[in-house]
Amino acid sequence: MIRSQLVGFGSYLPERVITNAEMAKMVDTSDEWIVERTGIRQRHVAAEGQLTSDLALEAARKALKFAGVSASELDMVIVATATPDNTFPATATKVQYGLGMTGGFAFDIQAVCSGFVYALATADNFIKAGQVRNVMVIGAETFSRILDWNDRTTCVLFGDGAGAVLLSAGTGKGDITDRGILSSHLHSDGKHYELLQVKGGPSRGQTVGHVYMEGREVFRHAVANLTSVLEETLAANGIGPADIDWVVPHQANKRILDSTARKLNFPPERVVVTVDRHANTSAASVPLALADAVGDGRIKQGDMVLLEAMGGGFTWGAALARI
Ligand code: UT7
Repeated sequence: MIRSQLVGFGSYLPERVITNAEMAKMVDTSDEWIVERTGIRQRHVAAEGQLTSDLALEAARKALKFAGVSASELDMVIVATATPDNTFPATATKVQYGLGMTGGFAFDIQAVCSGFVYALATADNFIKAGQVRNVMVIGAETFSRILDWNDRTTCVLFGDGAGAVLLSAGTGKGDITDRGILSSHLHSDGKHYELLQVKGGPSRGQTVGHVYMEGREVFRHAVANLTSVLEETLAANGIGPADIDWVVPHQANKRILDSTARKLNFPPERVVVTVDRHANTSAASVPLALADAVGDGRIKQGDMVLLEAMGGGFTWGAALARI
């Protein structure tokens, strides 16, 4: 059967780093509070004029280089983002042009922090249907542009960045020894639309708006939804926590990572953590963490990796892949 194999990884973080100590000069907060409640120590923030597409392009170029594939071989580009350059067109079309692609097609996916997992699942299904062979899947965000920098309950939590994975069609036997994406599991529940949102938007407010979050409620749902989708993924593949080499979670809060891992008996040393250095980069966080752990040699070819995310909507999902 056709399998979507993860053959290239890339990431990009803007140069400018804002530490918690700097945040404490902007709003009534402290390094202690931020570290204790979230695990975040610093975040990267895009330079003036540096757009989501610029971050995405850097990450995509690195993923192509990693794989030794040229842009002309790409059939499709998906950018998962909640912070597109413009309301329209899709940021992905700018990336397509920037990469020098002259064919194929490109579009954005909006599932906020779950965007990369949604994009990966979408790309996997296009590949399995035989419609495309090489897909660049990117999560890229400039959340700094939609933060209220006077609101301490949100501005300390987020950062900018991009991560990219090149998926390529390969073949497998149809069991869990195959390389590639083994299953994906997506969910949403619009009942919770208001709990985590940008208060603005072209239709509702004719403005861009700022991030608003009922943190405690989101936290509670995040742990429950992530635990349930991870259990669903393990059960669908007939495996247990011990079969997973690495969990690569969305990086919203270290306490969410810890309680989810505890509930499922994943040893903490098998969970990739970047929230301390990157903060929450929304759709970029999973591919950034993946590129980090591949880049430093922790994740190796043949490893079984479990990706998961939860975000506004609510949306949540997981994907199991053998690298
Ligand atoms: O990526 C999408 C998914 N997002 C998430 O999963 C985020 C989920 N939520 C969270 O991570 C946590 O709820 C937060 C980190 C957002 C907040 O942590 P918390 O432990 O739930 O704190 P809280 O909202 O209950 O606030 C506790 C106190 C409040 O003061 P009072 O009312 O108890 O006097 C806040 O005003 O902490 C205060 N507070 C702060 N204090 C210092 C809130 N933000 C700050 C801050 N610095 N930056």
